[in-house]
Amino acid sequence: MNILFAVSEATPFAKTGGLADVAGALPTALAKRGHQVHLFLPLYREIQEQGLEFSESTTVTVPLGTTSVIGTIVKVPSGQPNLSISLIRQDDFFDRPFLYGPPGKEYPDNGIRFIFFCRAILEAVAALDLKIDIYHAHDWQTALIPVYLKTLYKDRPHYQGSSLFTIHNLGYQGIQNKSLLPVAGLGWEEFTFERLEFFDRLNLLKGGLVYADALNSVSPAYSHEILQAEFGFGLETVLQQRRDDLYGILNGVDYQEWNPADDPFISNHFRIGRMAGKKICKKKLNAAFNLPHENRLPLIGMVSRLVTQKGFDLILPLLKKVNKFKAQFIFLGTGDPEIEKDLTALASQNPKQIAFIRGYDNRLAHLIEAGADIFLMPSHYEPCGLNQMYSLRYGTVPLVRAVGGLDDSIVSFNIENGSGNGFKFSDYSTAALEQSLKEALQLYQKPRLWQKLRQNGMRNDFSWAQSAIKYEELYNKTRTRSNVIKVESK
Ligand code: ADP
Ligand code: GLC
Repeated sequence: MNILFAVSEATPFAKTGGLADVAGALPTALAKRGHQVHLFLPLYREIQEQGLEFSESTTVTVPLGTTSVIGTIVKVPSGQPNLSISLIRQDDFFDRPFLYGPPGKEYPDNGIRFIFFCRAILEAVAALDLKIDIYHAHDWQTALIPVYLKTLYKDRPHYQGSSLFTIHNLGYQGIQNKSLLPVAGLGWEEFTFERLEFFDRLNLLKGGLVYADALNSVSPAYSHEILQAEFGFGLETVLQQRRDDLYGILNGVDYQEWNPADDPFISNHFRIGRMAGKKICKKKLNAAFNLPHENRLPLIGMVSRLVTQKGFDLILPLLKKVNKFKAQFIFLGTGDPEIEKDLTALASQNPKQIAFIRGYDNRLAHLIEAGADIFLMPSHYEPCGLNQMYSLRYGTVPLVRAVGGLDDSIVSFNIENGSGNGFKFSDYSTAALEQSLKEALQLYQKPRLWQKLRQNGMRNDFSWAQSAIKYEELYNKTRTRSNVIKVESK
C-alpha cells in the first residue's frame, strides 16, 4: 500500500508529546511490513538546527484566501527502505522557537499555519506525482486533509485514495475564527452544524471526524469513552454518528528507543535477572534532581506535560501532605504556569522529599524511567499514554487511573496469584489516588512480591509490530469504506 502519513511532530525531528513518538515509530513499522510510506512534517526551526542533510525537491504554491504562499518540499534521508520523509519549509510559519507556541500558550496564527501545512501536503502529492492509497492524518493540525479530499481535491486525478483520521487527543480541537474558512479555500456550505461549524466557530478537528472515511483513537478504551459527554469535549454526538467507522488501536512502544538493556541515555544498563544497574540509576536520578539519596525509600517519578489532563489537581493536594508518606517524588515537565509555580513551591518547602525540574529533557526522561521505583499517571483522561508502557520495560511500576489507554495496558497486581503489572484506581479523587499509593508503598516493603510485580511488567510486550498489523487491517477496511455519500447527502 502507498500510505501518506501527515503529522505535526515526529521523533527524532520535533516533539512535544506522545504524538511524536507514534509518528516516529509507526511509519517505520509499516515500511518494514513492505508498505511505501511518505511521512510529511513541517520544517520547524529545531529541525533546521539539527544539521541534517537536506535535499530540496520542489516548490508548491498554496492558495490562502486571496493570496498564495510558496512552500518548499525538503527531503531528508530516512535510513529505512520504503520510508520517505518530506519536510515542508515555509519559514514565516515554521521558523519559530516553538512548534505550537511557548509553554502554556498558542501562536495566534496556528490555524493558518496548519491550513497551509495540509494544503501544501496535498499540493506536494501532485508535484511529486505520488499515488496514494491511504491518507493517514492525525489530530487537528492535519484534520483538513480528509476534508479537502472530499471537497476541493475530490475530482482531481491524484486524490482518489481513502482517508483515516487518528484521534490522539480530543482535548485539542484547533478551534478558529470562522473567517478562516475562505482562507482555507472552503465554501460556506461546509459551515454547518453537521460539518465544520462548532458554536459559530470553525472546528478543524471536527472536520477530520466528519469527512474521513474511517476513524480511530489510540486505545480501545478511549474509542468508547469519547462517545460520552465526559470525554467527548462537545464532539460526542458527532462521534456517535460515526461509531460504526470508529476503531481503537493501542499505541506501541519503540523498544529501540526505550530499552534499559542498551539505552544510550543511561550509563548503567539492566535487564531481568541483572538489576544492579537500576539501583545505580536511582542514585544518579536522586543526584540529578538534588534529592538526598535514600535507597530504602521508594522513589516516585513523573514525566509529563503540565496540564490538567494529567491529574495535577489530584497530585498537588497529595503533595501538600507529603510528610505522611515514606517516599520521595520527582517531577519533570513544562506547561501550565500555575502548575509549574505550585510544584516549585512544594519542592522548595520539602527539599528532602520533592524535586521538580521545569524543562523538557529527553535524557532526564529516560533517567526517570530507569531510576524511579514507581511511575505516576493519575490522568483525568488518557487517550493512550506511553510512559506507563515505557515504565514497564524499565521495571518501574506504573500507578495509574483506570482510564483510556492506561486502563487497557495496566492490570492491578493481585497478591494472591501474583498476576498484574501495576496499581490502578478508578475514582477521580485525591483519596483514591492516596489509597492506591498507600497500597504501592506497602507492597514495596515486601521485596519478593515487588520483584514479581516488576518482572511481570518487564516481560510485557507492547512492540509496534503488533499495532502496525492492526493499522494495516484498518487501512484495508478504510479502503473499502467510502464516506463520500454520507457527506454529499447531508
Ligand atoms: P502526551 O502525548 O499526552 O503528552 P504520552 O504519555 O503519550 O502523553 O507521551 C508523552 C511523551 O512525551 C513521552 O515520550 C514522554 O517521555 C515525553 N515527555 C513529556 N514531557 C517531557 C519532558 N518534560 N521532558 C522530556 N520528555 C517529555
Ligand atoms: C496524545 C495523548 C496520549 C497519547 C499520545 C500519542 O498526546 O494525550 O495519551 O499517548 O497522544 O497517541
